[in-house]
Amino acid sequence: MEENSGGFFNRVPASYFLRKSPERAHESALRHLRFLDNHPRMLATMARRFPKVSWPVEVGGVLLDSPLILAAGLVKGDGFASEAEAMEAVGRGRNIIPGWRSVPAIAGAVEMGSFTLAPRLGNSGNVLWRDAERRTLYNRVGLRNPGARAAAAFLSERLAELPATYGISLAADPDATDLQQKCEDLAEATRHFISAGLCPSWLTVNLSCPNIDHTRLSAPASPLVSASQPAPATACQTATEAPDQANAICAAVKQELPEEIPLWAKVGPDLEDATYHELAQALKEAGAKAIVAINTATRKVPQSGIAETQAGMGGASLRPEALQATAALSAASTLDIIACGGIINGSDFQEFQNAGAKAAQYWSALVFRGPNASTLIAREARRQSHKLVS
Ligand SMILES: Cc1cc2nc3c(=O)[nH]c(=O)nc-3n(C[C@H](O)[C@H](O)[C@H](O)COP(=O)(O)O)c2cc1C
Repeated sequence: MEENSGGFFNRVPASYFLRKSPERAHESALRHLRFLDNHPRMLATMARRFPKVSWPVEVGGVLLDSPLILAAGLVKGDGFASEAEAMEAVGRGRNIIPGWRSVPAIAGAVEMGSFTLAPRLGNSGNVLWRDAERRTLYNRVGLRNPGARAAAAFLSERLAELPATYGISLAADPDATDLQQKCEDLAEATRHFISAGLCPSWLTVNLSCPNIDHTRLSAPASPLVSASQPAPATACQTATEAPDQANAICAAVKQELPEEIPLWAKVGPDLEDATYHELAQALKEAGAKAIVAINTATRKVPQSGIAETQAGMGGASLRPEALQATAALSAASTLDIIACGGIINGSDFQEFQNAGAKAAQYWSALVFRGPNASTLIAREARRQSHKLVS
């Protein structure tokens, strides 16, 4: 059974944000996080109301306090049109990565990013949708981020205040097609973080990025999913790099990483089991220690009135694909598998554990269960496994 008690702070933020449109909720959450980043004492008081579950687990070369990690996509920073603008903002002392301090304090382990080499403004118009009944999210944020150099500079100015455990996710520019270019860009992005003196607990290469097709279609916003403003719809596709390309990209990044920072790779949905097997082999040969499975799946947003809006689907509707990937990858590989996709409660996590996952990442659970999602999921999973044993 899902836990929904645990005090005012555990319940109110989820319902508070769910009452707003997805975009307004996202903006409002980032505003709150920015505020809390700047008020560490208030944050410490608040964080005490979010008790963590102690469930140490070693995964992908990292010792985590709990097997639940907040997935990439929330703590990824503001978008900028150019590296010069992003660096100028860092120079002015602007908080370009809202949540860098507050999210780990509240939610525990976090994967920051994905960061691309060059900054990206992301897509305009409606980029977030929510299907609350199905506990499903759709996004086409388009990898908005400040770029690796500015992100590294910003975080390096806060080295002493960074959490003990955190990951960094890097992605190739979704418009890049040339493999050599992707390898060089990701290697350079890695060097920015390492030469800035950062030592994340792990570094994930996101091999499954939204490949944005800028076909614009006029369409009304749907009242069903409460998008805040009318916007053109955009088609997008998510494709995972083929095994040989994934191998080349990860090997290029691995070369730049000190031995103590394990390399993880994140793959996408919609692949045959045989391809997951080949990917697992290719990633192992490239020196990866774990595979995060999976990123969002490109699906039509179920909005009345809009025929062609596609976006990355996450949440409960993604769970079958994520389970298939987890089972296929864990059957084929000795690498640790970190499940991601539709893990909303403890029994979801147990299902993924049974499929071979050692840990899990979550995003949608944060929206549907609140900032305490990782604790709630871990507690439920532990309680249920104790029941099974006794
Ligand atoms: C708004 C949003 C932004 C995201 N951005 C990223 C990203 O930058 N990099 C990445 O690897 N995954 C990104 N994701 C995907 C999540 O990390 C996760 O793989 C996906 O949501 C499935 O998990 P869930 O079912 O728990 O939501 C994003 C997801 C959302 C909802």
